[in-house]
Order: sequence, then C-alpha cells, then structure tokens
Amino acid sequence: MKHLITLKDITTDDFNNILKLAIKLKDENKKGIPHHLLKGKTLGMIFTKSSTRTRVSFEVGMYQLGGQALFLSSNDIQLGRGETIYDTANVLSRFLDGIMIRTFKQSDVEDLAKYGTIPIINGLTDLTHPCQALADFLTIYEEKKKLEGLKITYVGDGNNVTHSLLYAAALSGMNMSVATPKGFECDEEVVATALAMAKKTGAVLEFTNDPEKAVSGADSVYTDTWVSMGQESEKAEKVKKFDGYQVNEKLMGYAKEDAIFLHCLPAYRGFEVSEGVIDGRWSRVFDEAENRLHVQKAVMAMTMGDK
Ligand code: CP
Ligand code: NVA
Repeated sequence: MKHLITLKDITTDDFNNILKLAIKLKDENKKGIPHHLLKGKTLGMIFTKSSTRTRVSFEVGMYQLGGQALFLSSNDIQLGRGETIYDTANVLSRFLDGIMIRTFKQSDVEDLAKYGTIPIINGLTDLTHPCQALADFLTIYEEKKKLEGLKITYVGDGNNVTHSLLYAAALSGMNMSVATPKGFECDEEVVATALAMAKKTGAVLEFTNDPEKAVSGADSVYTDTWVSMGQESEKAEKVKKFDGYQVNEKLMGYAKEDAIFLHCLPAYRGFEVSEGVIDGRWSRVFDEAENRLHVQKAVMAMTMGDK
C-alpha cells in the first residue's frame, strides 16, 4: 500500500492486513511493548478543517511509532494563501516521509499523491473518511469477532462517513442498509462503485428512506452529524428535513438485542442521536474513537514504513 486515499483503492487483503496489524499494535500498546516502526520519520498533518480525534490520534500515533508529526494548519502555511497543490506536494516531499491531509476536495488529496513522492493519507474530505471506517470496522470486529455476514445500518445524512462505511462493508462482506431523508442520499458514483465491489464479497448494500426498516435486525447502528463541516449555513433547513431520523431508544428497539451503537463523533445529542442511546448500553463510541489511533498507526506503518 503506497497511500490511503480512499478505501475503494485497496483490496480486501489490504483491509484485513490493516485491521490485523492494528490489533497487534493495540495489544502491544496496552502491554507497554514499544514498536518504533517509523523511527526518525516525520509526518506532516495538513488541516483545512477542524479536528480533535484525527489531529491527536495521528500525532500521538507517530510518537508511539518512534517518529514525529508536524501540525500544518492551512491558516499558517502558504497553501492557505493560494500556493498550488503541485508546489506544496513537491516541496513537502523533500522534507517529510508522509502527509496526512484533512480538506474539502477529494481531488486535492489525489493531486498531492500524484505530484508528491511520499505516502498520502486521507484524514477526511467532503467525499470520504477512510481512517474513520477502518476504526469503525475494528470496533465491530472486537465486539462481534467477525465482520462478514453481519449487518450495519447507517441512519442520517448520506455523507463522507457513509461513503467510506459503504466501501468498508463491500470490502469485508458486511451487509449495510442506509436510511437517509429524500434529497440527502449518498453520492451516486460512490454507490455504484460500492455495489460493484460488493459483488466480489457478497455484501448486500441497501438504500431506503425508512429508518425502521433499515435498522431491523442490525448488529450495529451508526449515525453522524446532520451538518458536516462546511455546511453550517444549511443547519436550520437540515434539522427540519431530518425529523424522524434520530437514532433513539425506540429506533434501537428494531435492531438486534445485542446491537451496538457507533458514531464517528463529534456528536450532537438531541439531534442525530438521543442522549439515552449515545450514553446508554449500546454505545461503543469511545472505543471507536480510541481505535482511530490503532488503525492509523497500522496505516502509517504500512504506507510509510521501510519496505
Ligand atoms: N471523527 C473525527 O474524524 O473526528 P475529528 O473531526 O475530531 O477529527
Ligand atoms: N461528516 C462529518 C464528519 C466529522 C468527523 C463532517 O464531515 O463534518
């Protein structure tokens, strides 16, 4: 694996290898066994959007791998003043061993990889959030001891997180149902690609506007904010249109008895999820957040490590 730009670019073997290495690194980490797989290496972390989990988990992850991370806010680097991706990629490739970028356009991440000579890791774009889906599937695996044949349901906005979950489901053979309000469905191209990928593993991917139908029989139920970064002006309209799409105790009643609840966070209690669910017996959201650290260390080791 050279980069991690989107999960549609990787194979089921890559996907399984990331989770396997993440489990090993997590176990070693808990036992205090050092694993300096990236000793002396430097990761640049470009952010053009806010972050708590991504920023901290990548920085701590690099430190635990024996390297270091540089936080590069777009407010401070010349990219924010109009320097091109082409020049940025070329220059940063001379200093760094890898770049993690969180930004708006998926094509900017692709261009960094195209013009630079170092591994590029996608830390979220408007279209995808691959590191998140990897952490989510690790969390499900830890709970259920398998992925293939389970059912994950996503309720809410068809967004970057949903798209990466669809690719992860397709890669791992997990069935996925997505319930979105009309007009907030997933990107058509992503859906077509995920459906084609799913043919190889037998994953069944379904799309509906009916949350109760979607949640029926689910092993895990997932939601995300209705208002993603960059959509702040749409908040009032979205809150109206998403009425009926809150994951609450009643909706969880349609899932399996032992179903878990996941959310990439940050969460907005009383909107996409009720307090009773996110703070209740179903919730695994903090294990899920922790797993960002472990899967990203695996991704960094596999892309930036000595081959
Ligand atoms: N889930 C996630 O990516 O969180 P941050 O926005 O805090 O990085
Ligand atoms: N869909 C959300 C995810 C945040 C981690 C956003 O893009 O803002």
